[in-house]
This record gives sequence, C-alpha cells and structure tokens, in this order.
Amino acid sequence: MAFRQYRIGSIMFGVALGTSMMVTIFFPSIDMSKVEATKYALQYMLMYGRESAFAYEDPFLEGKGKPITVVLSKDPKTGQPLAEKVTAYVYKPGTPFPSPLVHEGKLGDKIEQASADLGKYKQATEAQGAVFLVRETKDGTPYIENATATRGWTPEATLAAADQQFYAGAGRTMFIREGCWWCHTLLPEQTKDWQTFGRPPVIGDFNGTSPTTFGSDRKAPDLFHVGSRNSSREWMTLHFFNPRLVQPHSIMPRYDYLWYTGVKDKAKAKQLQEYIKRWDKEYLAYARGERVYPPEVPEPPADSDARKLIDFVLTLK
Ligand code: HEC
Repeated sequence: MAFRQYRIGSIMFGVALGTSMMVTIFFPSIDMSKVEATKYALQYMLMYGRESAFAYEDPFLEGKGKPITVVLSKDPKTGQPLAEKVTAYVYKPGTPFPSPLVHEGKLGDKIEQASADLGKYKQATEAQGAVFLVRETKDGTPYIENATATRGWTPEATLAAADQQFYAGAGRTMFIREGCWWCHTLLPEQTKDWQTFGRPPVIGDFNGTSPTTFGSDRKAPDLFHVGSRNSSREWMTLHFFNPRLVQPHSIMPRYDYLWYTGVKDKAKAKQLQEYIKRWDKEYLAYARGERVYPPEVPEPPADSDARKLIDFVLTLK
C-alpha cells in the first residue's frame, strides 16, 4: 500500500512538472505580434513617442526627444475650422518615432496595411518630423494617418495652430523617473476595480509600449483613467506642490522641486527655488495662525518638469 501511494505521488509530480515545462517552453512562442493593436494602443504609442528603458537622446530622463500632443480646432494648413476637434501628435524634426512605426509586425497586419495605404505612415521620416493622427476605417479598423503627407500639416504649423499643447510624452518620463509607480498602478484590474478606476485595459492596448508602467503593488489610487475623473489642472497643481493642501491625510510626497527642474532660464529657476523655501516658512506661519491666508502656489513654468507631469496625468483619460 505504501508503495502504491508513492507511485501515485510520483505520477502527480510528473504531470505537474511536465505541464509547467510545457507552459514555459510553448507559451512564449504564441506570437505576440499577431495581437491586433487597439485604437488606444495607437494613441498611447503616438502620444509617448519612442520608449525604451534607456534612450540615447535622454540618458538622464529629462523628457527629451518626445512628441507633443495637441488639440486642434482649425486646419493648420488652410486655417479653416475643422468639423470637430482633432487630437494630433506632433513630432518635430529629429524626434524618434515609436518603434512600431520603424519596425514592422507590431500592430497587426490589418492596421499596418490601412496605415500604409490610407495613412501613408511609411512616408514619414524622423529627420523631417511629422504630424500623426489616429483614424478609423469604415469597418472600424484603427490606423495611423501621417497628416504631413496626407494633409500637408507640418509640425511647426500644427504647433502654431494648436488650441492646447500637452507634453504628455515627456510627462510619462517624469512618471517613470519620479517613481510614481511605487505607489500608483496604471492597471485597473478585471475585478470590481472598474467601478472605481474605470475600464481595465485589454491585451492589444499595449502594443508598442515598453516599458509598460503598470506598477505592481498598489498603495494609492490607480491612475489609468485619472484624467477622466479629475480633469482640473488647478487641483493637480496644488496636489503635486503639496498633496496635503487638498488631501489633508495624503501620504503622497511633495513634488514642489519639479517646479524648477527642467526650467531653462536659470535665474527663474533659482528664484522659484527660493520662493519654495520661503513658502514652507510662510505656510507654517499660516498653520500656526500667524497669517490669515496660506502663501500662493506658483504656476509651474511652461518648460518645468511639473508642467510635463501634470500634462501626462491629465491626458490619462
Ligand atoms: C508614497 C506613495 C505615493 C507616491 C510615490 C506618489 N503618490 Fe500619488 N497618491 C498617493 C496617495 C496615497 C494618493 C491618494 C490621496 C491623495 O489624493 O493625495 C495619491 C493621489 C494621487 C492622485 C490623485 C488620484 C485620484 O484618484 O484623484 C494623482 C493624480 C497622483 N497621486 C499622482 C502621482 C504622481 C504623478 C506621482 C509621481 C510624481 C505620485 N502620485 C507619487 C500616494 C503616492
């Protein structure tokens, strides 16, 4: 009897080991590039530009070499009003393209075909820069349109005609650099999560994204759709400057130093740095009741890292 039990145990062990080996060996051979990208994947990819763990154009993670996302209400070439607002992704000359635009077989055959035939994406070059749009064919296949080739929208004219500009690509670099992912995930799960944090992503949403910024251990709200539940730039500004200004018990660190990092005008950066030091003292005075109003939170300069980060967060729709 004892021997028989030993044999059953051995067989069960063999089956378990065999199965796990099969999964290990054969699972990676499922061709990930055969996963069709979704419309969202195309949007994220074009918004964030070329991504890699290490980028030659941006070794210190300052957000260099990234596209700018713009919202247009008039045609940058003709100046005519557009039927509806259009989101465009502007790559100034020299900005590296996301890898699926350079390497084939990452988006799915149908999308690449439509992007080449209708969108002329293969005519775009990094040296000349380009303006991209995400469109859909009549049967609902998303594709990339190179508006520089199809509509004559140059990067400069498009930036000049933009209603709004978002430095979301550079902002994502800030998100990675500042370690926001230690606390926040960008991955609502397939559980009741969606009731609070919105639609969970599907596999095709991440074609062309590397590194993904899913996060792992969630200590703070998921941010995948945070821009949909809170689109206030003012709130974000206060919250990044000092989370306790809007959430008295928040454990989130202050990111007030991002107000002067990235600022090209050194004198201005210095001035801000000093203001922020003074701010702390004045705020303490306010907390002790020695001042009636708290000191002002300054607006982040247009080229500051804080602005990039806020742009990124607000575009997480
Ligand atoms: C130590 C953990 C921690 C880190 C690091 C952290 N956060 Fe937070 N964050 C929180 C917590 C906790 C909250 C919820 C309370 C609050 O609103 O402050 C929060 C809230 C937020 C919110 C509002 C979420 C909502 O649902 O409205 C945003 C946006 C945000 N964080 C962005 C960031 C970004 C961007 C970074 C990186 C620069 C960052 N956080 C770093 C802990 C953290």
